[in-house]
Amino acid sequence: MARSCDSYREWQTYYFEELRQAESVFDFGNYALIENAWESRTLAVKVGHIHYLLKEGEFSFDSLHQITERAVLESFDLLVCKVYCSDVLANRSLIAAGFSCVDTSMIYTHDCVQVGRSLPSASFNVREAEPDDQGAAFSLAEQSFSAHFGRFHQDPNIELTRAHGIYGQWVRSSFAGYADKILVAEEAGTLLGLSIWRYGSKLEQRLLPGLAHYSLGFVSTQAMRNGIFSALTQAGVQLLQQKGYRIIEGPTHAGNIPVQRVYVKYGWKPADATATYHLWLKK
Ligand SMILES: CC(C)(COP(=O)(O)OP(=O)(O)OC[C@H]1O[C@@H](n2cnc3c(N)ncnc32)[C@H](O)[C@@H]1OP(=O)(O)O)[C@@H](O)C(=O)NCCC(=O)NCCS
Repeated sequence: MARSCDSYREWQTYYFEELRQAESVFDFGNYALIENAWESRTLAVKVGHIHYLLKEGEFSFDSLHQITERAVLESFDLLVCKVYCSDVLANRSLIAAGFSCVDTSMIYTHDCVQVGRSLPSASFNVREAEPDDQGAAFSLAEQSFSAHFGRFHQDPNIELTRAHGIYGQWVRSSFAGYADKILVAEEAGTLLGLSIWRYGSKLEQRLLPGLAHYSLGFVSTQAMRNGIFSALTQAGVQLLQQKGYRIIEGPTHAGNIPVQRVYVKYGWKPADATATYHLWLKK
């Protein structure tokens, strides 16, 4: 069943239902507060994400206040909440409650039914990663993201060295099972770039069997602007298409022009935009 890209928000409702089944959920009806164990470990503080299932204009400052009070009692250090940029009430409520905006992202989707544009010939080779690639992939992530400007970098309570380090941890977790597919680009035995892909979650596979996710991609700073990310992205799309996936969702920072140029060139379409907020409860 091919889905329209317009149904991206519909997928989010399934995601919310799945999250509510998590063990450590604090359930507030249409809101849920859940510890993000990976971020807690990586940032060495207790991080809680606020999720919600609401239509635009239904976000409530009072509910936010109630969740924040509970989060203090539960010893959370940092609260994170991602909302749609177009949801004026949600954005206003978060700002009024003292949250700071640390990231604005674009969400693109790719409809695999479309015939992809072909790539120019290249001197590098794209293949699936092997366990032995992990060390080089980790070092490459640290190098490639050294001048990045993502969510963790924008928060003045997170040291820049720790923010950079998050991407290396992301790679480690991906090799440890978080990723379903990892692709690498290499030339003469040297790793030049990597892209990480995930199949739909169990719930998504049951309800929306065609949905898969781009998770992360990066290229060596010395090898940028040579079409490596384009090749990794096209190869990832083809791999997922062969596995029967129809729609691939890919987020990126609103300021990440290279990623968006590649997406647009290869037929991805903007589907939505989100803003992410942080509130520190102890600093
Ligand atoms: C984003 C990134 C993966 C792109 O990799 P890449 O191999 O250089 O990408 P490609 O060469 O395939 O294509 C990049 C496109 O962006 C353009 N581009 C590159 N740098 C640019 C810049 N600073 N400003 C505007 N456009 C830029 C290129 O010209 C090309 O577009 P074109 O084909 O229309 O000419 C790489 O820059 C990177 O690793 N950045 C740091 C990590 C990161 O941001 N990862 C993505 C997280 S979602």
